Amino acid sequence: MKIKTLLAGVAAGALMVSLAACSSGGSSSGGDSGSGDGGLIGVAMPTKSSERWIQDGDAVKSQLEDQGYTVDLQYAEDDIPTQVSQIENMITKGAKALIVASIDGTTLTSVLQEAADNDIPVIAYDRLIRDTENVDYYASFDNYKVGVQQANSVLNGLGLVDLEGKATDGAPAGPFNIELFAGSPDDNNATFFWNGAIDTLQPYIDKKVLVVKSGQEAFEQAATLRWDGETAQKRMENLLTSTYSDGSKVNAVLSPYDGISRGIISALTDAGYSVGAEWPVISGQDAELDSVKAIESGEQYATIFKDTRNLAKVAVDMASALLEGNEPETNNTTDYDNGTKVVPSYLLESQIVVKDNIEDVLVKSGYWTEDEIKG
Ligand code: GAL
Repeated sequence: MKIKTLLAGVAAGALMVSLAACSSGGSSSGGDSGSGDGGLIGVAMPTKSSERWIQDGDAVKSQLEDQGYTVDLQYAEDDIPTQVSQIENMITKGAKALIVASIDGTTLTSVLQEAADNDIPVIAYDRLIRDTENVDYYASFDNYKVGVQQANSVLNGLGLVDLEGKATDGAPAGPFNIELFAGSPDDNNATFFWNGAIDTLQPYIDKKVLVVKSGQEAFEQAATLRWDGETAQKRMENLLTSTYSDGSKVNAVLSPYDGISRGIISALTDAGYSVGAEWPVISGQDAELDSVKAIESGEQYATIFKDTRNLAKVAVDMASALLEGNEPETNNTTDYDNGTKVVPSYLLESQIVVKDNIEDVLVKSGYWTEDEIKG
């Protein structure tokens, strides 16, 4: 018995050492900071128009450089052909691995065939790359759960549940008018967020505690191409004119992303809503600085914090493990079917942020400083 325990301990120790070796990654040259000896890694990001991707790009680049790699970091300004040619260039320049946050998850099939022909491993970053076998690993968050959290944040703002989704005692009966927004239909994440959110809201819609007054309850009606804030603003303006010009008010808006929330807020302000009793509860995602400020001021009720530093670490560890001939760590091998295969994934946890926990979640973790938020 004792020997068994001892052996189990030794085995666990060995596993920890190998995991540590795996996650410290780095080049065989010892991973000198920025030495570049580990070779070139291509990092393709969708756009600089959203703050979060700038933070993602910076974090991935600096962590790779810390491990001794040289980095080619490119942004494609949400233009698909630009992203394809950026990835082609990375392959031509001799990249040893690719980390890709796609614009449209279905448009990279042929360029990733080129990568595979050159034995270049590919890691899908936050957004799943679809319809190709040439994607090796996926680093992201539990995207269905993000959607659940978005819905729970809306329900919490209406006084119906706590932040974990537990019904509050003496919750108001409503009915509350709600409008629904979804993300970009070409981004695999958008349907995960939507499904998580709708599964959570549906019982309240069925009980008529929530009423989608416009009747626009289908993903296709709610979708926002390229997650564009102006597109969302226009749709919100149209909803306010078509559905709320009878004097009724919208009490809540499900929004899947801070940039979309900002568009919604502009439409509401232009239509004469002002923060106070009649201002709706609005959700978000990404804890972008302007939106954290909007939470402080009461314009936005909540966001979902996905720490880009941790996501970068997962992707960087995957790349360096692959280049060292090790198997990257995964924690989900069932949920992310890209249409051709199930892509082994590592999914991180996200957190709801409301005014009360900005300090605890965002400031204490060093994501934003007090000055940045108040400034
Ligand atoms: C999604 C991502 C979200 C948000 C959105 C818009 O793919 O998961 O966090 O950033 O894109 O950029």
